[in-house]
Amino acid sequence: MREADSVSEIREADVSEAEIAVHWREEPRIDPPADFVAQATVRDRRLFATLSGNDFPEGFRSYADLLQWDHPYDQVLDQSNPPFYRWFSGGRLNASVNTIDRHLGSARDRVAYYFVPESESEPITALTYGELASRVNRLAGILRNRFGLAAGDRVTIHLPMVPELPIAMLACARLGVIHSVVFSGFSGKACGTRIVDSGSRLLLTMDGYSRNGQWLDHKIKADEAFEAAASSGVTLDGVAVFERYPGRYRSASPLRPGRDVALTPLLTHGSDHDIAPASLESNHGLFIMYSSGTTGQPKGCLHGIGGYLAWVTATSRYVLDLKPDDVYWCMADIGWITGHSYIVYGPLSIGATSVIYEGVPNFPDAGRPWRIAEKLGVRILHTSPTAIRALRREGADAPSRYHPPLRLLATVGEPIEPETWHWYYSEIGHGKAVVVDTYWQTETGGHLLATLPGIEPMKPGSAGPALPGIEAAIYDETGNRLKPGAKRAGILVIERPWPGLMLGIWNDPERFRATYFEPLRRGAHKDRWLYCTHDAATQSSDGYFRILGRTDDVINVAGHRLGSKEIESAALNVAAVAEAAVIPFPDPVKGHLPLLFVATKPGTASPKGVARSVERAVIEAIGPIARPKAVLVVEDLPKTRSGKIMRRVLRAIATGGDPGDTTTLANPESVEAIRKEVGRSL
Ligand code: WTA
Repeated sequence: MREADSVSEIREADVSEAEIAVHWREEPRIDPPADFVAQATVRDRRLFATLSGNDFPEGFRSYADLLQWDHPYDQVLDQSNPPFYRWFSGGRLNASVNTIDRHLGSARDRVAYYFVPESESEPITALTYGELASRVNRLAGILRNRFGLAAGDRVTIHLPMVPELPIAMLACARLGVIHSVVFSGFSGKACGTRIVDSGSRLLLTMDGYSRNGQWLDHKIKADEAFEAAASSGVTLDGVAVFERYPGRYRSASPLRPGRDVALTPLLTHGSDHDIAPASLESNHGLFIMYSSGTTGQPKGCLHGIGGYLAWVTATSRYVLDLKPDDVYWCMADIGWITGHSYIVYGPLSIGATSVIYEGVPNFPDAGRPWRIAEKLGVRILHTSPTAIRALRREGADAPSRYHPPLRLLATVGEPIEPETWHWYYSEIGHGKAVVVDTYWQTETGGHLLATLPGIEPMKPGSAGPALPGIEAAIYDETGNRLKPGAKRAGILVIERPWPGLMLGIWNDPERFRATYFEPLRRGAHKDRWLYCTHDAATQSSDGYFRILGRTDDVINVAGHRLGSKEIESAALNVAAVAEAAVIPFPDPVKGHLPLLFVATKPGTASPKGVARSVERAVIEAIGPIARPKAVLVVEDLPKTRSGKIMRRVLRAIATGGDPGDTTTLANPESVEAIRKEVGRSL
């Protein structure tokens, strides 16, 4: 398997000096605004002393103390079976109690979520913690009594950005049912694959929703997902359907008797009794989140309860500076890890008020987010560089007309270049809000690198230093640990476990070890368990890291991870396609877009027709987020003599870089032909 083939993987990494040179230059550091510092939760370096020093892992007791436990843990960290670390083992708790019930005393009437429909003519609704509790309990009752679900079962949730999504997640969490949320933009087929891998018993979906001013029929995707799963041998017990407007079903796909269950009548007439929360061991599964990696199938990242919840609660407090009386808006989709950690579990655990927005940020115009933020009094905003670039491009002046009381602006998902950073800082924050660039991954549960906003200066273009308790370093291709300021790129490695690290890969423990921990287990490190992020990075002498991008076959499109293998195998499903290779192509708004090269089988008549079919196949297999920038149909792809497609060469040709010595290829003549096609099509 390629994943275990680590050192060669690192050597192949796109970390050449040329690549770093095209990145921005080192920017001066900027101190956080004084008003921010005066009220910041973290104002000294004590956290570093307790979490990063010799007090490991005992220092993390303070993170466990942020939660409410039914039963105390026996051990802070059970390291008896590395790399399967178990945090707060023996302790028992429930995630829905920690995110809801514990606020029901004095904070019962505090708003947990504002729901902002996409259409501006529909009113914004507020859901208090008390109301959230009753809706979660009702749904948990249905899941338990009607569908017979119990702790350890899996449920797939395919819902858009509506309050029903966190409600469904928390109803599962209450019973100890492991939820697997699939991003609503994913196709029915992609949802089906995830139902099969997780062995889900039930699919929760909705009739439809609004996006970009259009009504999207969503229930039809459930039919596709059901069929796709059934044809792979997993037949769901049922499909439970919410209505976007309760009582007004609006999908072209009728409910199928015996399979589909309308939730509205059950929720309206259901019992109002509280459902007793399952008291679960700290390392019981909370959720699975699928993420793309080097091989064809997305990996099911399994997160537990105690460690994960402690990590997202602590980072929401210390990195996002979130306080219970804050109104906070994370513009990510809950269907991705950012939404799980920083719209649902972290903010609710703190007892803050969050915004859930149904639609696209620039609907009906690029001023929408700033109107929403002003109207709701948003103080903390969290979004992606792609969203900032798009909003800037479409409405650079729009923010000046609105005055939300922002004090912290966070970003996540991809590197933010200084130009975009400065616009965010000056135009959105008016220089009064601190900017925090947060680097992390689905696998890591929560933030790894970021400035602690009250005590560490910002540096545009850098993700910042490692957080307290995170031992981060850069290793070169021979496994040497580089010193800060080495001016060389390498792989970002985390040297010690932390509570947010996932428990493992669903159904595939070996893959967890091979993908993340085997790459550096050689030479001097053969007895160590170093977590490999698969990101290339540099570290400057002040300890700040700059992320250069993935070194495995992951393409980061608008902050979303797409697996090259998934895109290529979709293309290969088109009958005329003999070979396919995808590369990331730079895009001014989305960071990168997939650019596909396909070689056709002999006798294929219409390259245009093939290109169209390939595009359709990719969207059907994954969803519109994977829509390629272009599909270039060529006769032959550049290959080594052993038959390996040289994506590096394709990338160089497409982006006007230097493909290096191509005379050693098995088919050097392919290069010129591709160059011509690139010239014609791009
Ligand atoms: C990239 C999203 C630069 C990185 C939370 C990582 C970033 C992948 C940043 C994880 C950042 C995330 N600066 N790159 N601040 N944050 N990335 O699993 O390549 O969807 O490995 O998790 O996004 O994406 P994932």
